[in-house]
Amino acid sequence: MLRQWREDDLDGLAAVNADPEVMRYIHDGHVHDRPEAAASLGRIRAQWAEHGFGLWAVEGKQDGSLMGFCGVGFPRFLPALEASPEIGWRFARRHWGTGYASEAAVASRNDFFSTQDFDHLISLAFPGNLASHRVMQKLGMRRVADATLPSGATVWVHRLERDDWTAA
Ligand SMILES: CC(C)(COP(=O)(O)OP(=O)(O)OC[C@H]1O[C@@H](n2cnc3c(N)ncnc32)[C@H](O)[C@@H]1OP(=O)(O)O)[C@@H](O)C(=O)NCCC(=O)NCCS
Repeated sequence: MLRQWREDDLDGLAAVNADPEVMRYIHDGHVHDRPEAAASLGRIRAQWAEHGFGLWAVEGKQDGSLMGFCGVGFPRFLPALEASPEIGWRFARRHWGTGYASEAAVASRNDFFSTQDFDHLISLAFPGNLASHRVMQKLGMRRVADATLPSGATVWVHRLERDDWTAA
């Protein structure tokens, strides 16, 4: 289930962001301590307040725990594309391989195009992040370019046009 964030989500988010395997392909692989996770949660909530869309908390239906997040933000870490809405996801490792990430990504994409005026979505991932590339493909995205982060690292840029989403 996609839902809005609550204060008590910090425990769940901090656990996700403290796992080196989860963070392996996020920026430089840096894991978050609790204050960094709290700052991250603050940025997520600020983006919702400013733009009316953002990264959803993804809650497990069975036990109500925080599985991770999925949704649309702006890639402020990549100045050349910082005005492009970017769909992204991050799930606790115990939920990998369950199909929930793909399901959440489809729901986020559909909600975004149904409620916002943007004519496209992008998604960014390091070349080795095969699971994320697969989720992008399943969203109907195509790899259109490479981009260089300020660190010098290359990310693949995937893109989906609203018109293609509508046609599908
Ligand atoms: C990216 C992430 C959310 C995917 O989660 P997941 O649980 O594997 O997703 P799903 O179960 O929905 O599967 C997605 C697809 O990727 C495929 N896949 C998963 N891992 C794969 C891998 N290592 N290599 C190739 N394909 C893979 C799955 O088979 C599935 O495709 P299919 O439906 O055609 O079989 C998860 O790996 C994650 O949280 N990673 C850490 C955070 C991260 O890197 N976020 C993205 C930053 S750009």
